[in-house]
Amino acid sequence: MCGIVGYIGNRDAKEIILDSLQRLEYRGYDSAGIALIDEKNHMVVQKEVGRIDNLRNEVYKYNGEVESQLGIGHTRWATHGRVNEQNAHPHCDSKKRFAIVHNGIIENYQVLRKILTDKGHTFSSETDSEVLVHLIEEFYKEEERNLQSAVVEALKVVEGTYGLAAICIDEPYKIVGARNGSPLVLGIGENEMFIASDVNAIMPYTKNVVYIEDKEVVVIKSEKFKTYTLDYQRIEKSITVVDWDVDAISKGDYETFMLKEIFEQPNAIVDALRGRVHARDGAVKFGGLDLTPEHAKNIDKVIITACGTSWHSALVGKYMIERFAEIPVEVDYASEFRYRNPVLGKNNLVIVISQSGETADTLEALREAKRKGAKVIGITNVIGSTIAKESDGGIYLHAGPEIGVASTKAFLNQLITLAMLAIYIGRLKNMPLYEGERLLEELALIPQKIAEVLEQADKIKEIALKYVHTTNFLYLGRGFNYPIALEGALKLKEISYIHAEGYPAAEMKHGPIALIDENMPVVFIAPKDSLYEKIMSNIEEVKARAGRVIVVTDLDDSVMRQKADDIIYVPSTIEEFSPMINIIPLQLIAYYIARAKELDVDKPRNLAKSVTVE
Ligand code: F6R
Repeated sequence: MCGIVGYIGNRDAKEIILDSLQRLEYRGYDSAGIALIDEKNHMVVQKEVGRIDNLRNEVYKYNGEVESQLGIGHTRWATHGRVNEQNAHPHCDSKKRFAIVHNGIIENYQVLRKILTDKGHTFSSETDSEVLVHLIEEFYKEEERNLQSAVVEALKVVEGTYGLAAICIDEPYKIVGARNGSPLVLGIGENEMFIASDVNAIMPYTKNVVYIEDKEVVVIKSEKFKTYTLDYQRIEKSITVVDWDVDAISKGDYETFMLKEIFEQPNAIVDALRGRVHARDGAVKFGGLDLTPEHAKNIDKVIITACGTSWHSALVGKYMIERFAEIPVEVDYASEFRYRNPVLGKNNLVIVISQSGETADTLEALREAKRKGAKVIGITNVIGSTIAKESDGGIYLHAGPEIGVASTKAFLNQLITLAMLAIYIGRLKNMPLYEGERLLEELALIPQKIAEVLEQADKIKEIALKYVHTTNFLYLGRGFNYPIALEGALKLKEISYIHAEGYPAAEMKHGPIALIDENMPVVFIAPKDSLYEKIMSNIEEVKARAGRVIVVTDLDDSVMRQKADDIIYVPSTIEEFSPMINIIPLQLIAYYIARAKELDVDKPRNLAKSVTVE
């Protein structure tokens, strides 16, 4: 989704802003722009549709000579208004004295636009954001020259969400930022400051950051910053030191971030398990989980809510919690949960799962659960994200920064985290010690087993390449692996633009079987578990209709060899943990098909890494 960056200091602002915007590319965008205040205090604005490289070329072509130590930049993911230069940010008033970049949605923009137009303001874009800069112009008092108060007065009349940064040529030594519902972080350097919507943007420059909270305003100068409420009250903020290193956000020797992240999965899991799993005591320990043994014992229902890939991990989590902790679990799309009337009892536990910790629907679901008095655990990857902060207790995924838009390692770490959580609650309830020990010992073997699947990447690629020209795919799995069928199909759709459906295997005969013919590849996830024989019957049904069958299994079985067109063998584990292994070949199939189609897998069309609008 949209990204914000800003810089003030002694260095070349345009270079830092362009570089920071490039680090936000992974979030998904369709246009970008930059506004600089030059040495003569003129506002220099450049906006382009397409990639940051495009913007960079144009900035250097037309404004390469500009010397500026202060500026703001933006990557736009269109919501209101088409993808074109006019609608790209920064937006300026007609005299080009002010420039703003904005993430979020101004809900009452139409009314405000009408009022401002009647007062003589001329709008040059179709966006909701542009009203902000005209409001700032309107509220700016020449005699006071106080950009902060103009921004605050503007914010008092808007309804909606914002993360924004504003600059003014009459005060060419400050950036004013504000946040309500859209993330904003300040980076503190030596005699220089940064502002961004995502800490990844500024990581090469500083590790010292201050998270701006909702309804806070920050006034930034190169050597200091001050934070305020919307009522101009000062707020003291603490500095957080971010411990992600810069290598974590570079591709290294990999051709794409997605491939790097797929291959990072064994290590990412080790990071998630570290210090939490004590196999010999059958115990799991979580630092930030605010769940007493008494509360855990009394939980009578768990509701897990999430979106997209995180929703798929929630489904696996349901199977695990029901199996290990013997508590009924409901899984809800966050977008549905927030708009119905979820019935929550006093002993219900709500779990929200989000890689980014900023997904608007998931955040609102969390807030609705809290309004209803439920205890909420947040499972997130991004440290300091809004969901992490607003949850009663939380578990971090420790997957490291995930830059590829299609989630891979965060999904794996969600599965491992949910397994740990299920065992943790199970042990607080009825699970015997020996069972806790057995499960945790098996869990510790998963990274090595995933590494073994990754060793087969070349073979999986060979199989994938046979299906590059296919236009439809079906993914089928049962039990713990039904959500893996959904996730395999989603990965393929997202990055290769091939239509794919995931189904519980037994449901095929209730409809999708009508689609089966020689052009329909069907991926079966068929571990040797209690449902293996049943899956085998489903495979027979597909073969009887000339469908092409790709099987992911841990059993070398002569019957299967005769039936399947292609088989990918994976190491065995217990049924409950098999999703963690079976998803790996599906990620790789999607990846290699998309690459063979020469698609940009890290930035698939229309998708955003963090969906901060409804
Ligand atoms: C798919 C994908 C999305 C996200 C979804 C939720 O690969 O990444 O479906 O899973 O947008 O995002 P988070 O987990 O950040 O809340």
